[in-house]
Amino acid sequence: MSTFDSPWDLIRQTASDRPIACCRPHLVRQAAKWFLSNFSGETLYAVKANPSPWVLKTLFEAGITQFDTASIPEMELVAEHCPDAQMHFMHPVKSRTAIARAYFDFGVRTFAYDCQAELDKILEVTGQARDLDLILRVGVSNQGAEMPIDGKFGASHHDVPALLMAARPNARKLGMSFHPGSQCMDPYAWSVHMDSLSRLIIDGGVDVDIIDVGGGFPVSYPGMEPVALERFPVVIQDAFDRMGLSREAELWCEPGRALVAEGTSVLTHVDLVRGNAVYINDGAFGTLYDAAHCKWPYPTRLIRNDGEHSPRLKAFKLFGPTCDSADVITGPIFLPEDIREGDVIEIGTLGAYGVSMQTRFNGYGETLDAFALDTPWQSVYEPRAVQTTKADWFSTI
Ligand SMILES: Cc1ncc(COP(=O)(O)O)c(C=O)c1O
Repeated sequence: MSTFDSPWDLIRQTASDRPIACCRPHLVRQAAKWFLSNFSGETLYAVKANPSPWVLKTLFEAGITQFDTASIPEMELVAEHCPDAQMHFMHPVKSRTAIARAYFDFGVRTFAYDCQAELDKILEVTGQARDLDLILRVGVSNQGAEMPIDGKFGASHHDVPALLMAARPNARKLGMSFHPGSQCMDPYAWSVHMDSLSRLIIDGGVDVDIIDVGGGFPVSYPGMEPVALERFPVVIQDAFDRMGLSREAELWCEPGRALVAEGTSVLTHVDLVRGNAVYINDGAFGTLYDAAHCKWPYPTRLIRNDGEHSPRLKAFKLFGPTCDSADVITGPIFLPEDIREGDVIEIGTLGAYGVSMQTRFNGYGETLDAFALDTPWQSVYEPRAVQTTKADWFSTI
């Protein structure tokens, strides 16, 4: 991997057909440090958000040594790049093979479950192990989240007391987790969920050792400005204190997006402009999955290597490189009216659910990685630290 001071330098020196992922470890490190100093409990990294080796290593070196893994390939990656990391299997539905490999090969001891059948499976496969930390994933409303993920996992509140009681005799530690939805803008969503967990613990009549408040912490995207991030750990700590658990009870969180979103942008190449359609070399089957399928807004800026572009903007849609007509970001995306072949569009805040969503469909979808040292967009962690490069941020997806 090479290091460049700005996208300009990178483009000048790289002749590649592939989109370029500009990796900014300093921004991932900044996010990690923020969680370590502001969140009073344990911060686990949700690997699914961005499993790139440089991300795993940067987080580990910054002090995030626990990882929320959801599959054996994710565990293999973490074990390879951060051999001293502690992994947790937080996927509520796992195959027997995956449970066995996690427990016996990777030393995983924390397993999530959200129903009796899954709990039985974990206990059977591990031979009724006595050293399991069992975390009951509880279903909660994802109101307040820009990207709801509810409805698939999570025990119903009705079933929670019995599921807690069922696991308690086998658990070294018994925990409860929930996910408020990704990019959850409202800190009080956490406190509402934690208050309901409290009531369910009373109904179950058992001691709970771990409260895992999930991911969902927001960052800044165009049109989605979270309240000051400091509010989130404060509200969560207040709610945790209200829960009246034992003094040894642990508070965990498992952010993905918030740790890595600011750490990567992608440089896409304009291959053709036809009317209001801009054909680029990344798209719905690449890092722009969320932009295409969820209309997720990202900051963008145009980079032209030779000369100025027009200050006047026009509405465009972006077509990705594959032959599928679904490979489109309808936007509208506002770009300089004279955008042309050879221009580069830099799409920012794409470090979460960007490279992790890439497919190889039609032979596309692989990015070239480069390290960049700038801080081109506003950070939720260091609001005053924007250090713009030669092109200005002027448009959004
Ligand atoms: C169990 C679990 N934990 C953590 C995360 C990370 O969430 P986010 O990226 O919103 O922080 C997810 C995302 O889907 C998840 O399913």
